[in-house]
Amino acid sequence: MFRTKSVEQSILDTEEPEHALKKSLSALDLTVFGVGVIIGTGIFVLTGKVAKETAGPATAIAFVVAGVVCALAALCYAEFASTVPVAGSAYTFSYASLGELVAWIIGWDLVLEFALGTAVVAVGWSGYVRSLMDNVNWTMPEVLSGPDAAEGFGFDLLAFILVLILTVILVVGMKLSARVTAVVVAIKLGVVLIVIIAGLFFIKADNYKPFIPPAEQQATGSGWDAPMVQLIFGYEPTNFGIMGIFTAASIVFFAFIGFDVVATAAEETKLPQRDMPRGILGSLIICTVLYVAVSIVVTGMQHYSELSVSAPLADAFKAVGHPVYAGVISFGAAVGLTTVCMILLLGQTRVFFAMSRDGLLPRFFSRTHPRFKTPYRPTILLGVVIAIIAGFTSIDELATLVNIGTLFAFVVVALGVLVLRRTRPDLPRAFRTPWVPLLPIASVAASVWLMLNLPAETWARFAGWMALGVLVYFLYGRSHSRLGREGR
Ligand code: ALA
Repeated sequence: MFRTKSVEQSILDTEEPEHALKKSLSALDLTVFGVGVIIGTGIFVLTGKVAKETAGPATAIAFVVAGVVCALAALCYAEFASTVPVAGSAYTFSYASLGELVAWIIGWDLVLEFALGTAVVAVGWSGYVRSLMDNVNWTMPEVLSGPDAAEGFGFDLLAFILVLILTVILVVGMKLSARVTAVVVAIKLGVVLIVIIAGLFFIKADNYKPFIPPAEQQATGSGWDAPMVQLIFGYEPTNFGIMGIFTAASIVFFAFIGFDVVATAAEETKLPQRDMPRGILGSLIICTVLYVAVSIVVTGMQHYSELSVSAPLADAFKAVGHPVYAGVISFGAAVGLTTVCMILLLGQTRVFFAMSRDGLLPRFFSRTHPRFKTPYRPTILLGVVIAIIAGFTSIDELATLVNIGTLFAFVVVALGVLVLRRTRPDLPRAFRTPWVPLLPIASVAASVWLMLNLPAETWARFAGWMALGVLVYFLYGRSHSRLGREGR
């Protein structure tokens, strides 16, 4: 259970021809990749909801808080990714340092993060596409507009189809999708810059008063949806105020998810030792700056209490009388969310691939395609499952579940850096996390703090998923593990 897979063995495994992925990505590819997946539903959709309900104009501060948490984690991820350049992200890193059970738990956790993340973004995408269709007076039947829009039964046909199409693209090959990504990322960045620059002209100083709205009692009664930290310390659950900023940070954290996906592509990177840290930190810095700018501009254009919760960036322009800008923004958002969805799906299949290559999941899934060199079996299986989830579920609850899973992975990675420094001080590390052990410890504390700001019901769901994972490990993974069988 505590057996670890040596770093050398991890790297060697990737060199077996029938299980090998193509090494074709550069630092620039990785940064484009990172920005491509990071900017998405978080900024395009959640900003409005969070500003309106939880933090007001101080949402900009929430983005900074979440960005700092991610930067701390990124510095730990970068050391791991540059030391263990093998597909599978935090999963592989923990296999090399914390033992098989922890690795399994993390892998299982990442499956949740990426699968549900893909579904969340697909549903967000579908919302933007429907709003564009409305512009030309073409409306989807309600029953095919997803569970949020329909009364009673609702199936999100567009989200379902999107995930299936992206699955096919991923099966056909990484390079193709990286090229498509680059074009789409340019469009998405363009739209974000339009929001920031054009929006500047419509800011009214009055909208920033108060910048941090005073704390307000939460209306809900059950307590289940109150942040864990407020329940633990016996506060009356509130929105806004200083605590509201942290609650907001734990939600907008979703907007940063993705830089860790860059780490999952380590095996497909030409010079992982140098390019990984550049790719991860570069994309994170670009995104933080853009998010803070966007949230400041949008809460300045419209009073936070009037922001829309479904398409806040576009609707802010409608509110100041510029529907054309709104249309362009909706279009760019819809295009941009496509890549986010695709990269999350990619990260997902790579983790699954790595787990199966190690025998913790059936080995059947780890044969790469003879011609395309992609892990086509898990890609197809997961693509279909995620398409169905995206069709039948609503965004909100899924997003917080994705956040708690990701933060949990951050905690394990930061601890892993500490452990590996002790157990394998000899390994070459192209990138070394600064201020060890202080920084990893701060990273753990910061991630746990954000987790505690998530609702109690999110904790309960997460605990359920992880318990199921431990069960699967003891019933299947432990006895089938390649490491265990070959006794190395
Ligand atoms: N960070 C990505 C988004 O905001 C997942 O959609």
